[in-house]
Amino acid sequence: MNVLVIGSGGREHAIVWKLRQNPEVRQIYCAPGNGGIGQLATLVPACAENDWGSYADFVKSKNVDLTVVGPEVPLCGGIVDHFLKKNLKIFGPNKQCAQLEGSKIFAKNFMRKYGIPTANFKVLDNPKEAVNFLNNLDLTTYRYPLVIKADGLAQGKGVSICPNLPESQVAIEKMMVLKIFGGAGEKIIIEEKLEGKEVSLLAFCDGKSLKVLPPARDYKRVWDDDKGPNTGGMGAVAPVFLDPSDFKKIERSILQPFLKGIQNENLDYRGIIYFGLMLTASGPSVLEFNVRFGDPETQVVLPLLKTDILPLFQAVLDQTLEKTPCEVEDAVCVSVVCASRGYPEKPETGQEIFGLNDSNAHDGTLLFHAGTTVQKGKTIASGGRVLNVIGYGKNLEEARKRCYNKASQVRFEGMHFRKDIALSLS
Ligand code: AMP
Ligand code: GLY
Repeated sequence: MNVLVIGSGGREHAIVWKLRQNPEVRQIYCAPGNGGIGQLATLVPACAENDWGSYADFVKSKNVDLTVVGPEVPLCGGIVDHFLKKNLKIFGPNKQCAQLEGSKIFAKNFMRKYGIPTANFKVLDNPKEAVNFLNNLDLTTYRYPLVIKADGLAQGKGVSICPNLPESQVAIEKMMVLKIFGGAGEKIIIEEKLEGKEVSLLAFCDGKSLKVLPPARDYKRVWDDDKGPNTGGMGAVAPVFLDPSDFKKIERSILQPFLKGIQNENLDYRGIIYFGLMLTASGPSVLEFNVRFGDPETQVVLPLLKTDILPLFQAVLDQTLEKTPCEVEDAVCVSVVCASRGYPEKPETGQEIFGLNDSNAHDGTLLFHAGTTVQKGKTIASGGRVLNVIGYGKNLEEARKRCYNKASQVRFEGMHFRKDIALSLS
């Protein structure tokens, strides 16, 4: 069995690491991968955006049996449809389904139609109308702070939390007039801000059933105590404690209606579905869908997956998920991201990384690289988020201790990481 994994982050390193444990897997290619993935897979150049034909040619020329897509851009751009037309096996949802992430309006309308709890929202497609909506705000439904979101993909940056009218006007101006997110901000959503704890729930989905993975939490702000700007994620933990009654509510009010919705809409959803949830005082509510593995959640979820991942990928494609085992360890996994100086605004790159001695399951740690490259035998930082250090243990305390112990051994000029990841799981 030969596999191609598309992507270059910690998420893809975790996927490749998990695939490597299966003796059936012979060759793994990763496009473009990173310095860490290069130890487990053959790195190949990524193809240009939308050049799905080149990926298909590569897969045919190397007898690749399965392609696994990490990031959302190729999914939303239709790589899966392209592969399926050529009878090539690929894990991930098709373009129509990927709109659940690629268009927030599509996702919100889907939730509204199927009664999935989500923040009240208004869709606006021109700036005048948007400002008018704010000037005549219906105070029975909306009050500040409000959340303003670009409809399309914006590399996780398309969400503004606006405490008052002037800041909302600025957000609208930036998205709809200055078009800082290009076409992604042509339409926007204005919605109420929800309060509570966030939980990321990832599930395999074959269109007929779901297999849910341990709930996780990511830490988005750059500094301790959730201070500083948002990032692509500074750490993660799984599982987070979910009250059984909350889990029942999630099943009843979110997972079941989701399945019913995709079936009713003839969405042939096969891949991972990620539910970004807020546990509010009135119950769990959906903030967003992602149509792929989350980053950095995957780095703490896959080490907890006892079952081989290949049969799960296969079961999703064959629509036999319901009868396929998906067992998880009774353990805890914590991940801390080592970032370079200046991240997220202006990350430095080019520093040599030290202390990367082979981490293995025996000391309960793993290293999943993100922005690294190997040059002349040296591992060099090549992005803002450089490494994910993973600690694994029978409980939170053990997992955290192992994680931070390992993080303290890794070093590069200007490296910083949060010290408070997974301090509490409530
Ligand atoms: P989204 O891309 O829609 O998930 O938004 C990214 C992040 O913004 C979420 O993970 C939340 O932290 C925050 N966020 C989005 N929508 C809301 C909301 N309605 N209320 C509170 N926080 C939100
Ligand atoms: N951790 C959030 C995401 O993957 O989008």
